[in-house]
Amino acid sequence: MTTSTPETVRPGITAGRGAEHTAILGIGGYRPSRVVTNAEICEYIDSSDEWIRTRSGIIERRWALPHETVQMMSVAAARKALMRAGIEAAQVDCVIVATVSHLMQTPAVAPLISDELGATPAAAFDISAACAGFCFGVSMASDMIRCGSAKHVLVIGVERLSDITDVTDRGTAFIFADGAGAAVVGPSPTEGIGPVVWGADGSRYDLIRQKQPWKDVLESAEPSMPHLRMDGNPVFRWASFEMAKVAAEALDKAGVSPDDLDVFLPHQANMRIIDAMARTLRLPERVVIARDIAYQGNTSAASIPLATEALLEAGQAKSGDLALFVAFGAGLAYAAQVVRLP
Ligand code: UT7
Repeated sequence: MTTSTPETVRPGITAGRGAEHTAILGIGGYRPSRVVTNAEICEYIDSSDEWIRTRSGIIERRWALPHETVQMMSVAAARKALMRAGIEAAQVDCVIVATVSHLMQTPAVAPLISDELGATPAAAFDISAACAGFCFGVSMASDMIRCGSAKHVLVIGVERLSDITDVTDRGTAFIFADGAGAAVVGPSPTEGIGPVVWGADGSRYDLIRQKQPWKDVLESAEPSMPHLRMDGNPVFRWASFEMAKVAAEALDKAGVSPDDLDVFLPHQANMRIIDAMARTLRLPERVVIARDIAYQGNTSAASIPLATEALLEAGQAKSGDLALFVAFGAGLAYAAQVVRLP
């Protein structure tokens, strides 16, 4: 016969609890001062202004000057986002920096940015999700706030891709560019950030990649910067067909129909991908489509916040508008979510 012993009462763990709703409270961007025209690009590669415009939609791009570092551009973008959100740096509990072009293996650049802003001791770390990094960050920030592990999170997408682009490579020289965009995510009385649809397809890992791992560079007889390489056309076809489905799923999960949408804010990778997605999604004519790539190039993690800021500043989008983000890039990683613009 078994005898039961009285259960010992052990203290439980109190679960974190945060805000019911979250939103982007402010957006800011930084565009480097050096304008690089297609004519300048064609000094290094066998191409033409016409080819670059028709194949990518890029007319010119911005490349950072030496003093426009990842940290400097991030701090400038973040200060604007904080000011517009009406939040002091000291109120920030976490800083997430999405980047693939901070050329220092460790530590992350986020603690430096946080400290310069005056947000120390906020948690601060980098994420590597390439062009999808900003949308990954917004999703993580929103979840943190809902769980109570942070009240205000600063999400920064920043790149100095010109440092890791081979200006003599026809496949990438004309496309990549530099810049920073930042968003303050915080609690909100109404819902401002819809459920994320995200993922990664490692079977396509090689399509956009650093040419060599650092170890191979260091062991080579003539070490040189392991620039980015991209098999552009397979990425182009994948993005044009698959990303519209991801965007449609994000709309569906948020309970928003294309007719309810005000603004389409896709990653600024290629104007033809933007057009293909808009067609597949059957966006009504009145939906404003971000086309920041024309004068900014492809700034990877910075492209969506920069494009958002541009539309708001130009009055083409306004506070309270419903916008659809969809981002994709190396990994291949992708993410989409519906947000209400700050
Ligand atoms: O942001 C992260 C995700 N990245 C993307 O989403 C980028 C996706 N890919 C793209 O945007 C496009 O693939 C590119 C803009 C990079 C290239 O456009 P494409 O229409 O896919 O061109 P392609 O690579 O299929 O090349 C077409 C032709 C080829 O010539 P032939 O074989 O038809 O004679 C290329 O050799 O264009 C030629 N070509 C060029 N011509 C002038 C390739 N690069 C160049 C160039 N200038 N820079």
